[in-house]
Amino acid sequence: TPGIRPLIAGNWKMNGLSADLGELAAMGEGAFGGAEGLICVPATLLSRASDALAGSKLRLGGEDCHGAASGAHTGDVSAEMLADAGASHVLVGHSERRTDHGESDAVVADKAKAAWRAGLTAVICIGETKEEREGGKTLSVLSSQIPGSVPAEATAANTVVAYEPVWAIGTGLTPTVEDITEAHRHIRTELKTLLGDEADKMRLLYGGSVKPGNATELLSIENVDGALVGGASLKAVDFLAIAAAC
Ligand code: G3P
Repeated sequence: TPGIRPLIAGNWKMNGLSADLGELAAMGEGAFGGAEGLICVPATLLSRASDALAGSKLRLGGEDCHGAASGAHTGDVSAEMLADAGASHVLVGHSERRTDHGESDAVVADKAKAAWRAGLTAVICIGETKEEREGGKTLSVLSSQIPGSVPAEATAANTVVAYEPVWAIGTGLTPTVEDITEAHRHIRTELKTLLGDEADKMRLLYGGSVKPGNATELLSIENVDGALVGGASLKAVDFLAIAAAC
């Protein structure tokens, strides 16, 4: 989108041990060209990842945060803790959180607000399931997820929206260029209804089986302002190849 600097974001999910910090360091030394680079890692790795990326422009993110700033929430991690450990971003509402932990749109919106309070940029994830896609409900699902998950105070600076069709995640399947074009145009339109002109500047990422081999095609689609990469973000060589396609 004209005037928007692309964002190439990685999501390590529940992968990554100390032994993998070398991959992060290699990513940190790599080139992202005109794009901004972000890698979201498990909370256990954040502070060491932050050390490994010292001096690098690659940004660091958490994968989830609680909606509250602190308190009696055993096992949870607050946005402030992520920021303290070196994160500038956090994913909220990833489909795996929605499925594994029953997170509703309202919970996701609360998490986005918690991220902002801690000074983090929220990467809010949305997308339809296979059943919804096959039932022709993709656009109506997006129309309800957007006002439900994206608080009306969202700005292009504090929020990124990631469209990840659930059926495309980790499957090697991707929607057609036409389908992504239609979905992203629809997302932009819905965000405009919610946020006004701010929506024109907001980054819209595509996620779901983005690989070095399809990145050029996916990243050239109208209203696709970057990618959210899962499996192919685990190795520096793949992640940097995707960035190079940008
Ligand atoms: O958040 C990124 C992710 O869900 C996509 O995963 O492995 O299909 O790139 P993958």
